[in-house]
Amino acid sequence: MEVVNLTGSSPERGHDPDALWLVGCGSMAGAMVQGWRTAGLDLSRTAAIRPSGTPVEGVRTVRSIGEAGVAPGVALLGFKPQKLGDIAPELSAAIDERTIVLSMLAGVELATLRARLPSAAAIVRIMPNLPVSIRRGVVAVFGEELEAASRNRVAALLVPLGFVAWCDREAELGAVGSVAGAGPAYVARFIAALAAAGEGKGLNPQLALTVARETVLGTGWLAAATGEPMDEIVRGVKSPNGTTEAGLAVLDAELPDLVERTIAAAGRRAAELAAEARGIDSPVTPL
Ligand SMILES: NC(=O)c1ccc[n+]([C@@H]2O[C@H](COP(=O)([O-])OP(=O)(O)OC[C@H]3O[C@@H](n4cnc5c(N)ncnc54)[C@H](OP(=O)(O)O)[C@@H]3O)[C@@H](O)[C@H]2O)c1
Repeated sequence: MEVVNLTGSSPERGHDPDALWLVGCGSMAGAMVQGWRTAGLDLSRTAAIRPSGTPVEGVRTVRSIGEAGVAPGVALLGFKPQKLGDIAPELSAAIDERTIVLSMLAGVELATLRARLPSAAAIVRIMPNLPVSIRRGVVAVFGEELEAASRNRVAALLVPLGFVAWCDREAELGAVGSVAGAGPAYVARFIAALAAAGEGKGLNPQLALTVARETVLGTGWLAAATGEPMDEIVRGVKSPNGTTEAGLAVLDAELPDLVERTIAAAGRRAAELAAEARGIDSPVTPL
């Protein structure tokens, strides 16, 4: 008698609960691997799947899902959102009903992922940022309900990478992601602008960059160490009618609006990507 497998999974292929697949391992998944290696996680059962076959230090690298082995305990989606439609059919067949899927695909909603990967045990969205590579990242998490062991498994992967924000709502993950996901790029631009201003004052480029970078770093550390509100830190720097106040008068006139428009533009793009992943053309409300 022919057995019809409605989920598309292949139970006869076997399952390794300790195996971790990195389906796509470029910039962001690679940064997570770096963080895990620094934290001393055992990556001996980890496979990076990338068509180029470019080796990822510390993990076994293969070119296709077919070469990765038996269904893993966790599959981390680290490819571009636009690739979901191409990759999902083969992936859904290769994982099984015990596999937890962690998706970092920006803007791609849980419902879309569930529709495309019906065989997964649970699907959890994460939104990491690049400093996970040095274990100083921010990782937002939202997903389907997990039993305790699965939640511990997810936590064991994410906690070593930095601050983990467990979100109650999908929109909250989107909001954390819109600040933290692209945030390192925005902050890097600010550091570069500060450095350029230093160069304009006659500093050599190397010194200007170091001064700008250490200023941002020191301020972040100060805020974290003291827990003070940002206004308090500003108050500690400026004096009435002084130089900082003169500078802030210019910055404050533009910065809040500029940042808001920056985040809104990224949100609109996230909505477009989400719509593409659902297979429709028109964007939805920005996340
Ligand atoms: N970069 C960030 O700061 C950031 C932050 C939050 C979330 N994200 C999310 O992270 C994901 C990856 O972004 P990224 O910046 O790391 O992109 P990336 O550097 O371009 O990496 C994409 C990876 O996908 C792989 N890939 C392409 N086609 C594939 C296929 N058919 N099967 C399996 N793997 C395939 C690529 O393989 P090759 O290496 O062989 O080319 C590459 O390893 C995106 O969904 C993005 O939304 C990124």
